[in-house]
Amino acid sequence: MRQQIEAIREAAAKALSEAKAKQELEALRVQYLGKKGELTAILKQMGKLSAEERPVIGQRANEVRAYLEAKITERAEQLKAKELEARLASEKLDVTMPGKRPAAGSLHPLNTVLETLIDLFRSMGFDIADGPEVETDYYNFEALNVPKDHPARDMQDTFYISENVLLRTQTSGMQIRTMENRKPPIRVLCPGRTYRVDEDSTHSPMFHQIEGLVVDKGITMCHLKGVLEQFAHEIYGPETKVRFRPSFFPFTEPSVEVDVSCFSCGGSGCRTCKGTGWIEILGAGMVHPHVLEGCGIDPSVYSGFAFGIGLERLTMTRHKINDIRLLFENDVRFLEQFGR
Ligand code: PHE
Repeated sequence: MRQQIEAIREAAAKALSEAKAKQELEALRVQYLGKKGELTAILKQMGKLSAEERPVIGQRANEVRAYLEAKITERAEQLKAKELEARLASEKLDVTMPGKRPAAGSLHPLNTVLETLIDLFRSMGFDIADGPEVETDYYNFEALNVPKDHPARDMQDTFYISENVLLRTQTSGMQIRTMENRKPPIRVLCPGRTYRVDEDSTHSPMFHQIEGLVVDKGITMCHLKGVLEQFAHEIYGPETKVRFRPSFFPFTEPSVEVDVSCFSCGGSGCRTCKGTGWIEILGAGMVHPHVLEGCGIDPSVYSGFAFGIGLERLTMTRHKINDIRLLFENDVRFLEQFGR
């Protein structure tokens, strides 16, 4: 019986140390130590032993049981550790793998330039206003000192919806709409779409203007110059020179056209400025007294200035874009280059 016990001890220990899974361990426990297990079966035959042998064999059998139980626990722990190791290995994250970058969109260059302008004019106390693109003849022309038969209308051929309704040719109608609705002091910036029958590499039938209007007591040409110089320096850099040339607009008197020194050649003359050293960027002037009066503002008390900036022209000169159509074709390869 003693030999049987030792044989069980050895066989069980070997089997246990080779067990590969939790279920296998449990099966071995049942096989050796269970109610009908091999060791249990031996213990059941203890009655056959002599009184001297019984305590010795009994003690040994209990030792073997305790030994095997400890073995089972030990093996179970080994298996658990192995399982964890395998899981860690299979779930390992290689942080040195190259990352995947999501394709990021960017603002359209027209919007980037517009936002720069809005920030700048806001900082000078301007409000931002919006107006209709489908406009009446009155706001687009008549109230701006351009009567029906005025030759200045030829400069702005447009799309008519009906005799008196049209797609606005300029944002200047917003001067009238603003002055009708607000009392001075007025400081407002009105960006928006405008339309003319015009198409080539520098003209598009749809384009954008940014109208500015300031009306208050004592506003002079000096204020106009100060604001527009500030604007030019912000967009083209502080070393930029600004030139005011006499011009004509029916709704401003006097009127000016504003040029900046060419940012490509610094003023010595090149292809960008067509050899002149200057680039025209906007039209402006002192609001015509007749226009103020038409909006119920007394020109003997108040005066003001207005300006109209072409957003496409500004964007094209700033980014050296040579064809206006590139701005509206929405070719991603083009637009991508202007990501912020
Ligand atoms: N609206 C004029 C144009 O489109 C520009 C302008 C605006 C001139 C405001 C003077 C004052 O040419």
